[in-house]
Amino acid sequence: IRDGLIAAVGFDKEVEEQFPGVSWAAVVEAHGRSVVPGLVDAHTHPVWAGDRVHEFAMKLAGATYMEVHAAGGGINFTVEHTRAASEEKLLQLLLPRLHRMSRAGTTLVECKSGYGLDVDTELKMLRVLEKARPHAHLTISSTFCGAHSVPRGLTAEEATRRVLEQQLPAVKSAKDAGELHVDSIDVFCEQGVFNVDQSRRILEAGQREGFFINFHADELHPLKGAEMGASLGAETMSHLEEVSEEGIAAMAKAGTVGVLLPTTAHILRLPSPPARAMINAGVPVALGTDFNPNAFCLSMPLAMHLACVIFKMSLNEALTAATLHAAHALRKAHAHGSIEPGKVADFVIVDAPRWEHLVYQLGGADHVISHVIKAGTVVHTRP
Ligand code: NIG
Ligand code: FE
Repeated sequence: IRDGLIAAVGFDKEVEEQFPGVSWAAVVEAHGRSVVPGLVDAHTHPVWAGDRVHEFAMKLAGATYMEVHAAGGGINFTVEHTRAASEEKLLQLLLPRLHRMSRAGTTLVECKSGYGLDVDTELKMLRVLEKARPHAHLTISSTFCGAHSVPRGLTAEEATRRVLEQQLPAVKSAKDAGELHVDSIDVFCEQGVFNVDQSRRILEAGQREGFFINFHADELHPLKGAEMGASLGAETMSHLEEVSEEGIAAMAKAGTVGVLLPTTAHILRLPSPPARAMINAGVPVALGTDFNPNAFCLSMPLAMHLACVIFKMSLNEALTAATLHAAHALRKAHAHGSIEPGKVADFVIVDAPRWEHLVYQLGGADHVISHVIKAGTVVHTRP
C-alpha cells in the first residue's frame, strides 16, 4: 500500500522484485487469515432521529409496511422527528451508526437523505452527511431522496412539484457551490407513494442536473418501475422484489445494477426478488443493508448471509455483490470493490483460513473480523 492505494498484490518475493529496496512503514500480520475487499453497502438511510421499535411489534403482529405507513407511521413518523432534530443531534446519531458499519467491514457506503421532504430538512440531512465525512472511517456516497414519501397534507402531485421546483434546485445549487457532494437522485416509486410517471419526471430532472439515477423500484407492487428506470438509462435500482421479466431484460440491456436488500425482505416477510433470473440475464446484482428505522441492520455480513439463504445466492455471488458490484452501483468501481493495484486500499481481514466464515458465522462478524483497513489505515482491530 502506498498513499492509501494498493501499490501491488502478490507474494513478498514478487512485490520486492517489483519494488527493489522497498521498506515497510507497517506490516499487518495476517498469517492463516483471509483478506477480502472492504465491503460496500449500496443502500442505506442512516441520517434520522426517531426510531420505530414500536412498529416492529405491530409488523410482527401482522401489519404490513403500507398499513403502518398509511396510518401515519413509517417514514412520516421519522420525518417528524428528523425535522425537529438539530444538525448537531443528527450528526451525533449518525456517527456511531457509521462506526458500527465500519466495524462490520463496510468501507464504502451509500447514504440517502429523505426524512425531511422539505428544502430545509433535506439540505440539513445532506449537510450532516458532509460533516460526517472527516470523522467516518468509510467513504460516503450521498443520495438526494426528497421524494421518499408524500409529506402530510400534500398530494403526491404537489409533492412531486415541490421536489422539482424547490428541493432539487436547492440541492443542485449547494452542489455547484461546493457545499455538498451529492452523487445520486432517488425516488420511492411505489403504489401510494410516487407513481411511475411522477417518479420518472423527478429522476429525469435529476439526471439533467448531473445526478446518477439510483431509486427504489418495484418493491411492494409490480408497477414496472424497472422498465421506466431502464428507459432513462438508470445506473442503479433497488429492492426489485416485484420486478417483471421485461423489467429484468430492460435492466440488462441498460446496464443497470440491481441492488437487493435482504434485510427488508426478511423483516417485512416479502417474497424474494428474482435474484437468479437477474444474474442469469446479466444484471449485475449488488447488496445493501438498507439500514433505516424499518430495517435496523448495519452489518453487510448479515445481509450477505440472508442473500445466500433467502435469495439463494452463492457465497461467491454474495461477496461480489457486496464488493465490486456494489461499488459499481455507486459508480465507484474504478476505485473500490476489489483488490487490484491502483484502487483504494480497503480490506477486511477475516480471522479464518477461508473467507466464507464471514458469512457462515451468522451474526458473528464482530468475532470473525480481526481488522478493517480503510485507505491503508487500520481503522478497527478486534479487541
Ligand atoms: O428502502 N422503501 C422505502 N424506503 C426504505 C424504508 C424507509 C423507512 O421505512 O423509513 C426502504 O425500505
Ligand atoms: Fe431504502
